[in-house]
Amino acid sequence: MSKSVNLAIIGSGVVGSAFLRQLSQLKDTIKYNVIYLAVNSRQAIIAQDYTPIDVAQYKSLDTEPILTLDKLTTFLKLSPKPVILVDNTSNAQLAEYYPKFVEAGISIATPNKKAFSSDISVWNDIFAKEAAPGGGLVYHEATVGAGLPIIGPLKENVKCGDNIYKIEGIFSGSLSFIFNKFSTTVASDVKFSDVVAEAKQLGYTEPDPRDDLSGMDVARKVTIVGRIAGLPIESPTSFPVNSLIPKDLESVATGAEFMEKLPLYDAEMQKLKDEAFAEGKVLRFVGSVDLKTKKASVGIEKYSFDHPFASLKGSDNVISITSERYPNPIVIQGAGAGDEQTAGGVLADTLKAAHRLAV
Ligand SMILES: NC(=O)c1ccc[n+]([C@@H]2O[C@H](COP(=O)([O-])OP(=O)(O)OC[C@H]3O[C@@H](n4cnc5c(N)ncnc54)[C@H](OP(=O)(O)O)[C@@H]3O)[C@@H](O)[C@H]2O)c1
Repeated sequence: MSKSVNLAIIGSGVVGSAFLRQLSQLKDTIKYNVIYLAVNSRQAIIAQDYTPIDVAQYKSLDTEPILTLDKLTTFLKLSPKPVILVDNTSNAQLAEYYPKFVEAGISIATPNKKAFSSDISVWNDIFAKEAAPGGGLVYHEATVGAGLPIIGPLKENVKCGDNIYKIEGIFSGSLSFIFNKFSTTVASDVKFSDVVAEAKQLGYTEPDPRDDLSGMDVARKVTIVGRIAGLPIESPTSFPVNSLIPKDLESVATGAEFMEKLPLYDAEMQKLKDEAFAEGKVLRFVGSVDLKTKKASVGIEKYSFDHPFASLKGSDNVISITSERYPNPIVIQGAGAGDEQTAGGVLADTLKAAHRLAV
């Protein structure tokens, strides 16, 4: 008989529904039995007797109110097989609960950044519980760069004794798109506000582009990679983040009003771009962690035309890792967002956990 694990899946939004489809088509030596599926924040399909749910048919199955997190823990603890909880939400409450899940022997696979980029006490708690006897496993590759292999290889390098010197990267798909279009290796007078409007129209930004332009999403990712590399970053607000939102537009009421007023600041951005161009450089919005100076930062930087960051395309991410073993940096580049890519990253994590746990 083949080995198996039980899965509790939370969320069936953009990433969650791609995950469910990929899972239903998965071919592996291990059997993946879904015993709990929260289709949204209210309703769930619950296999009360642990008989697997048919995920290929989940849309037509009866639902009931989701379990409270305490009740869910009890239900999963009583599972006859090891359990992996797949959190495909961005819910903060659920994320704060991870230490309790892990302590109860429940493993986690997730693209949800919240738990790993909030206060460092939560991070420490999660990984202390993972290391304790009987603790669940924790995988979160898709919290940085979606499905790109960043967190796994970085953790392995550190574990195997490499000393990380510097991590630098373009961690945001929307800001990658914006700067790749705005600041190029040929002279251009493309307006910053026009490029932001285009990114919004193409669905690259959040409905209110200030959520991207604030740099906080990048700061969260920098917090995660910095901690893995060995810098105990307190929180994503504990280091300088140079927001792209003009001060006077921080408090305007709506995203629409923000977009209307953004052209007033085009001249400032054009000046920055022209100055960089005169030096043979482009502007990019980067996050970096310097392990030597023990500093992290997020903001606009200038890169010469022949630097890998200058030739980035579309909305790709690029992350460069310099270390004792890799003085010429490891450069990882590719789509850093997208439902299929992110779901693929979460599914790969689920498989890694399953191959360690299945019985
Ligand atoms: N989309 C990407 O390209 C991408 C890339 C990298 C990482 N991620 C991360 O992937 C995660 C999911 O993103 P998404 O784009 O799929 O979001 P989404 O489309 O908004 O879907 C989130 C889903 O989670 C459900 N949910 C929220 N709170 C819940 C709760 N307490 N219990 C049960 N279900 C709950 C939502 O239900 P309701 O509708 O009821 O709220 C919804 O079904 C996020 O953490 C995001 O940051 C996404």
